[in-house]
Amino acid sequence: MQLTHLLPAAVLGAGLVQTGVFPVPDTPYRVQWTSSELVDHARPDPFNSSHPRRIMISRFTPIPARDCLQTCRVPYMTPLMASHEDAVITAFLARGNISWPRGVLASLELEVCCKVLRRSSSSSKNNNARSFGVGLKSSVPRGTVLVGTGLNTTRLMYSASAQNLAAGMGYDVVVMDHPYETDAVQFPDGSVIYGGRVPRDPNATEALAHALDVRSQDAALVLDYLGIGQGCGERVGFAGDSFGGPAAADVMLKDRRVGAGVNVDGMMFGPAVNVGVARPFLSLGSPGHNSTSDETWARFRDATTANNSRVWHKELSLAGSVHGILSDFGLIGDVAGLRDSGELVGSLFGKITGARTIEILKEYLSDFFEFALKGKGQGLLAGPSQKYPELIFV
Ligand SMILES: *[C@@H]1O[C@H](CO)[C@@H](O)[C@H](O)[C@H]1NC(C)=O
Ligand SMILES: *[C@@H]1O[C@H](CO)[C@@H](O)[C@H](O)[C@H]1NC(C)=O
Ligand SMILES: *[C@@H]1O[C@H](CO)[C@@H](O)[C@H](O)[C@H]1NC(C)=O
Ligand SMILES: *[C@@H]1O[C@H](CO)[C@@H](O)[C@H](O)[C@H]1NC(C)=O
Ligand SMILES: *[C@@H]1O[C@H](CO)[C@@H](O)[C@H](O)[C@H]1NC(C)=O
Ligand SMILES: *[C@@H]1O[C@H](CO)[C@@H](O)[C@H](O)[C@H]1NC(C)=O
Repeated sequence: MQLTHLLPAAVLGAGLVQTGVFPVPDTPYRVQWTSSELVDHARPDPFNSSHPRRIMISRFTPIPARDCLQTCRVPYMTPLMASHEDAVITAFLARGNISWPRGVLASLELEVCCKVLRRSSSSSKNNNARSFGVGLKSSVPRGTVLVGTGLNTTRLMYSASAQNLAAGMGYDVVVMDHPYETDAVQFPDGSVIYGGRVPRDPNATEALAHALDVRSQDAALVLDYLGIGQGCGERVGFAGDSFGGPAAADVMLKDRRVGAGVNVDGMMFGPAVNVGVARPFLSLGSPGHNSTSDETWARFRDATTANNSRVWHKELSLAGSVHGILSDFGLIGDVAGLRDSGELVGSLFGKITGARTIEILKEYLSDFFEFALKGKGQGLLAGPSQKYPELIFV
């Protein structure tokens, strides 16, 4: 496995026109952002056998605030990716005759920790593996959560959410691109692999199951890279948005290291639909998307509970949300000042603000992973809370 590191953006944007910086999460942590290319020399690319499988990941690592010596504002996306994603969003919205202001993505920035006191740097494998050791409860990060993206959607569209989750939970949060499926993946050498090879057709079940299997192997590559060996047990969480939801279940079937999964509003596909999973699983839907309206959710739930009588499975619904709950769209709406557009709110952002959504996700995912991976109580997952009335237990 060959590793190439790069800083996501070498502070390119300084001095240019600036419309928005995502708010820095107000927690005891600052967050470091690194992008890496991982190459799996043992595996020909399943979509293009002329080269080994290579993927890109974004890693968001919480740093205790006192150990972060400097924060920097870095571009949310490279110019190439920003203009590509502008075009993708424009095409998506055009179907509803809604327009998207071009250039928004290119003008956004994240404020991340760019200089870390050496002792809390966690870029070495050993350091990460060690954070799971007994008696090191206060070590940072407290654990690892992989984030699965929507079908044909860049990992870069999840950076602000991932930064917030890392800062809110104290976990390393790693978002993955899956080349040839992800709409566009830009590598450190500037080359780009365009996606769309996996059909956006719910009836193409074999192609979708294959895409999930590729994602599961990509996730295994990431865990190997992070130094999380098979012997580490069920220590990693997986939260997936849309197609990332069935990816969470798929990897749980195939990789013991993933001990807990979250499906955020995704229709289920792959073998897990009929077999279920044997470890804790949470499904969170937008209004009306639940096991009554989506038979894949019902089948997955029934298989999970029938085959594993003691497994924990719950279903939640987030009022005011739209599809893409785990993505950055809600936060982009807040930061770019686009919430005046009822059409954009209805189709892309949701009535609930991005700030409120990420607040809720932070609290509920943190409690879920602490419960499922560390044996704590259910916390907020025990039942409805007056503090979070938007979160409905289905
Ligand atoms: C496969 O990858 C090679 C580079 O290794 C590239 O030149 C070629 O265009 C790719 N083919 C497809 C079908 O994407
Ligand atoms: C799309 O919006 C434009 C401008 O508001 C309007 O003129 C046009 O009739 C709309 N087209 C459709 C198909 O709704
Ligand atoms: C994937 O996204 C690209 C835009 O990058 C689009 O042209 C293509 O139609 C999409 N493919 C699928 C299968 O959704
Ligand atoms: C999927 O298949 C069902 C039954 O064969 C059909 O009714 C439905 O229209 C198909 N959906 C798509 C998106 O092709
Ligand atoms: C579940 O979905 C059905 C059908 O869309 C809807 O009528 C019902 O209100 C939903 N339940 C919840 C708790 O959201
Ligand atoms: C899981 O449960 C389903 C019924 O929901 C059953 O058809 C299937 O055979 C079971 N699979 C295993 C591996 O037990």
